[in-house]
Amino acid sequence: MNVDVLLGLQWGDEGKGKVVDVLAPSYRYIARFQGGPNAGHTLEFEGIKHVLHTIPSGIFRPDVVNIIGNGVVIDPIVFHAELEKLKPYQIAFEKRLLVSKKAHLILPTHRLLDAASEQAKGLNKIGSTLKGIGPTYMDKTGRNGLRVGDLFSPSFQSLYDDLKEKHLDILSRYEDFQYDLAPMEKEWFEKVEGLKALTCIDSEHYLYDQRKAGNAILAEGAQGTMLDIDFGTYPFVTSSNTVTAGTCTGLGIPPSAIGKVIGIFKAYCTRVGSGPFPTELNDEIGAQIREEGREFGATTGRARRCGWLDLVQLKYAIMVNGVTELCMMKADVLSIFSDIYLCESYEIDGKSVDRFPYDINKAEIKPKWTHFKGWKSDLTSLTRYEDSPEALKDYVRYLEKVLEIPITMVSVGPDRAQTLLK
Ligand code: GDP
Ligand code: IMO
Ligand code: MG
Repeated sequence: MNVDVLLGLQWGDEGKGKVVDVLAPSYRYIARFQGGPNAGHTLEFEGIKHVLHTIPSGIFRPDVVNIIGNGVVIDPIVFHAELEKLKPYQIAFEKRLLVSKKAHLILPTHRLLDAASEQAKGLNKIGSTLKGIGPTYMDKTGRNGLRVGDLFSPSFQSLYDDLKEKHLDILSRYEDFQYDLAPMEKEWFEKVEGLKALTCIDSEHYLYDQRKAGNAILAEGAQGTMLDIDFGTYPFVTSSNTVTAGTCTGLGIPPSAIGKVIGIFKAYCTRVGSGPFPTELNDEIGAQIREEGREFGATTGRARRCGWLDLVQLKYAIMVNGVTELCMMKADVLSIFSDIYLCESYEIDGKSVDRFPYDINKAEIKPKWTHFKGWKSDLTSLTRYEDSPEALKDYVRYLEKVLEIPITMVSVGPDRAQTLLK
């Protein structure tokens, strides 16, 4: 059985959590393959709103087993808080939440290094979520990291102390950076026990067995393609591969076993943190999108930057991910506009550019817009795509034509039920 992949095609926060929750009943396993507590995946159903960070978004579906893959980085403190928030739902974690022994651990000093690095960068900061993501992945690729499996080693404390010493040495070079590590460490060692109490597995073997047994698996991405370490707007990116290939390295799934690639995009664009954003609207329209779409970060609460849909960017994301079907999110947010715009190409130095350029950080980019008539009607109580306004159908048909990929789902509200399947 092949593994389907679901991932974000823009700068994150496309609505991945919602769609995973909607699709989860068709799968036996939901497996996160990268990222960590920088992610904030929101699920809404039956009057409940819940934000997940490290735990996969199939956790509320009783028959689904959730796996945190080797490509994920885990902060035991954030993880513990997530488990606590789920307590009222009486989830049988020992059977329904499995953790790869190869997932890397975020140490308190990784968080300090993240903060020190951002402070030192000043105006050039990445706008990191300050969860320690970059330093943890640096230690992973630098072959210094600690993994979940190490927690069970009798020498864990000395492994921890060795890595901490390296970090303190680096921190000593940041002159203006103040910190108090002791309380952070105390909490970390307390909360690590919660992680150790879960079922820790060799997830690549486990998933192989499930594939062979014919069980359906959905891989859940975090962040979005434009935050990918290789293909995103470097250096304003996260430190993992958020694209389809990340499923192979982050779960041990061979490329030949990838099935559907479900790409999620908003009917407009948002970005949180620094970095280039060609279709950003620093005007009243951008503010209206932010307000109507409640565009404030699920993890940090920061206001998200907003702009119109960018087809140059979206085509690029579809290309690098090999997307086979699309979900368009937040169509309801655009209901307030009589006029909607799409960026079809960029103008750079007087030339028309329709391929996402290398020098995105330096280039002076003028988006070239295509105008659409807005649908100006409330979509939030629709239950069938066929009943949606013609102007929305026109917009969807146009996107399918230029993107050459079917849009199989249109989302018209944050709730599980506000989902139109085509
Ligand atoms: P993720 O990181 O991709 O899972 O997305 P986030 O949860 O960070 O951000 C998406 C936000 O949009 C959340 O607050 C969702 O509840 C909300 N949302 C998802 N789909 C829709 C939709 O179709 N319409 C509206 N209005 N909100 C949506
Ligand atoms: P989900 O999974 C949106 C952004 C940060 C920053 C950059 C690097 O909810 O879509 P990091 O902490 O990873 O070093 O930050 O990436 N970022 C996200 N933006 N959604 C996310 O996750 C993000 N995770 C990281 O704002 O610009
Ligand atoms: Mg999010």
